[in-house]
Amino acid sequence: MMKLTVDLGADSYPIYIENHILDHALSYIREVFSGKRIMIISDDHVFPLYGKKLVEQLEEAYECHHLVLPHGEATKNFQSLPKIYSALLEAGMTRSDLMIALGGGVTGDLAGFAASSYLRGIRLIQIPTSLLAQVDSSVGGKVAVDLPQGKNLVGAFFQPSLVLIDPAVLHTLDPRFVSDGMGEVIKYGCIKDISLFELLESRASFQDLKADLPSVIHRCVDIKRRVVETDPFDTGERMLLNFGHTLAHAIEQYYHYGRESHGEAVSIGMYQICLLAEEQGLTVSGTAQRIKRVLDIYGLPHTCGIPLRELTEAMGRDKKNLNNKQNLILLKEIGDSYIYAGSADFFRKDATV
Ligand code: GLY
Repeated sequence: MMKLTVDLGADSYPIYIENHILDHALSYIREVFSGKRIMIISDDHVFPLYGKKLVEQLEEAYECHHLVLPHGEATKNFQSLPKIYSALLEAGMTRSDLMIALGGGVTGDLAGFAASSYLRGIRLIQIPTSLLAQVDSSVGGKVAVDLPQGKNLVGAFFQPSLVLIDPAVLHTLDPRFVSDGMGEVIKYGCIKDISLFELLESRASFQDLKADLPSVIHRCVDIKRRVVETDPFDTGERMLLNFGHTLAHAIEQYYHYGRESHGEAVSIGMYQICLLAEEQGLTVSGTAQRIKRVLDIYGLPHTCGIPLRELTEAMGRDKKNLNNKQNLILLKEIGDSYIYAGSADFFRKDATV
């Protein structure tokens, strides 16, 4: 069993990573929660697989309720919140009760925001079941819902009390959701950990990496932990986690979130921003090529055929572009990232990504 602690003073919390940890989740939950009621929020893909196992354990010690929502990004909508608040009220949840988010990034973000706002905040445990949620969104306290005008436009920084990561659940994942998460895993190697990147380079496929998954997840979460401890409110160092994301968000918006998954869009974004930075002498040449080779190993794309000039408008609307300045995350080289105060001129308008 691997344990990490996110050290944020009064908001500190443990993260446990272990294959099959879900089978004994109760003992970890007991360590952090001595109240009465628990509400599990999950989706109709994940709950049938793992809900029963969790509920049976929790009922030994708590009054346990659950709400199962439709899977998919459409559920991470502002309009889903009243359903959650109603379920919480019907269950008689008070400020001393607990919410558990059991699922991928959508469930974690939505349940997390509901927990942050119901009765001005009730406690939250994250049990992420997708690779993307395990290495990224379940840790660090960013929770949000989407508005019709854009993704994550209403949210909060709200740290959980505990994160339980069971890498074994990933064996039930659709392969597309695995490669989705691998985009973020590769990102961690790019921004902070050359030896992680070299490990990823040394494998022939995701199948070949499976035995290393618990330690790979641990390395990613450890990077995220350190970054979040330094900059919990995303005003400096934490922006490094957005490597590849400026172009990724624009690509996702361009196709109305209907074509590339987030991890696929991040993959394209990482490669393309390195190409542009190399041309401008801002990244060691050959870096983009090295990223492309790793993306190939894990079946991830590096292009999507959109002219850059068509993407720059979407980038201008990104909520991170304050005063038309564009904080870009670039690599000096693999494993070494920095924030570059750029502008729209960085993006060559005649290029195609
Ligand atoms: N997913 C990026 C962050 O948590 O800051």
